[in-house]
Amino acid sequence: MNTNSQVWQGAGRRIYIQEVGTRDGLQAEAAFVPTEDKIALVNALSDTGLAKIEVTSFVSPKAIPALRDAEQVLSQIRRVPGVVYTALVPNVRGAERAVESKADELNLVMSASESHNLSNLRMTREQSFAGLTEVLKAVQGANVAINVSLSCAFGCPMEGDVPMTVVLEWCRRFVEELGAGGVTLCDTTGMAYPTQVAELVRAFRQRWSSHELTLHFHNTRGMGLANVLAALDAGADRLDASLGGIGGCPYAPGASGNVCTEEVVHALILMGYDTGIDLPQLLAAARALPALIGHDVPSQILKAGRRLDLHPNLTDFDEIAARAVNR
Ligand code: COA
Ligand code: ZN
Repeated sequence: MNTNSQVWQGAGRRIYIQEVGTRDGLQAEAAFVPTEDKIALVNALSDTGLAKIEVTSFVSPKAIPALRDAEQVLSQIRRVPGVVYTALVPNVRGAERAVESKADELNLVMSASESHNLSNLRMTREQSFAGLTEVLKAVQGANVAINVSLSCAFGCPMEGDVPMTVVLEWCRRFVEELGAGGVTLCDTTGMAYPTQVAELVRAFRQRWSSHELTLHFHNTRGMGLANVLAALDAGADRLDASLGGIGGCPYAPGASGNVCTEEVVHALILMGYDTGIDLPQLLAAARALPALIGHDVPSQILKAGRRLDLHPNLTDFDEIAARAVNR
């Protein structure tokens, strides 16, 4: 555990950044991004040093029409060694499609809240868990990693607080009963706050120290980056983030964008963390995003530039300076 002197210090610690813009981001877009543009975007992201890219989701095309080209995208991208290409999967049908398209990892999904699970997946949580068990059986021997994303782990927009005991019990079932290699705690609608995040991360880490733990925050209430720092300080080393800060679950009222990848990376590099990411290259990919989706994105770094992207002095600066010195 960190001592006070280590708080907020990166000190070269490796943090794994996982891009979800092409899934969590594009799923929420009204306009369909052409398949070849999605492929080009993933290819550009692959060269930035990201640890993992959630390329798409294999859900019902009626539920998420924006990602109805999942097969084409996942099977046509250029694979960079070392990058894990994952896809969101809600059921056996989705798992079969994802394995066929050579996903490295299946990101299974269910919600910690009964109401959100019903509205997003049209099942009770127990039905979802039984479904995930079926998925595990169906892909046995397929050599594909399994992660489970638990939506609404920090609160539900319909039910309010979700007790930590409930969240940890679902994590236990994913890890111990399903045998998942990783769990993602999702703040689907930006209800998490830093002290709560720290408590949950510590509790998870105390129980399961060798499993991958990912934190997935949305910046809906402006606490995204604060939550990121609280999570890292409590021992987390994996973060989901989305390029430009786009994103949001269409089946969660009030959902909005994820924490923004370039903002998170910019902050972590300044603090001395090792993200493995080439920020200028990431920014170049982010700059292409508004044209792709047809609107502005929340990213502050795209607007303001990096901290030391300096501005030229006023044209009459020398005159002003000379007058001030002689005053
Ligand atoms: N891939 C493609 N099609 C699928 C599918 C999958 N993984 N799962 C279901 N379908 C199709 C079925 O074939 C059926 O099609 P039809 O109407 O042409 O016969 C239709 O979707 C409904 O299938 P059903 O099994 O009755 O599921 P449902 O209506 O209860 O929907 C989900 C359940 C989970 C499949 C659906 O709600 C879904 O995909 N949700 C996505 C949620 C999501 O991505 N949210 C944001 C991210 S968290
Ligand atoms: Zn999300």
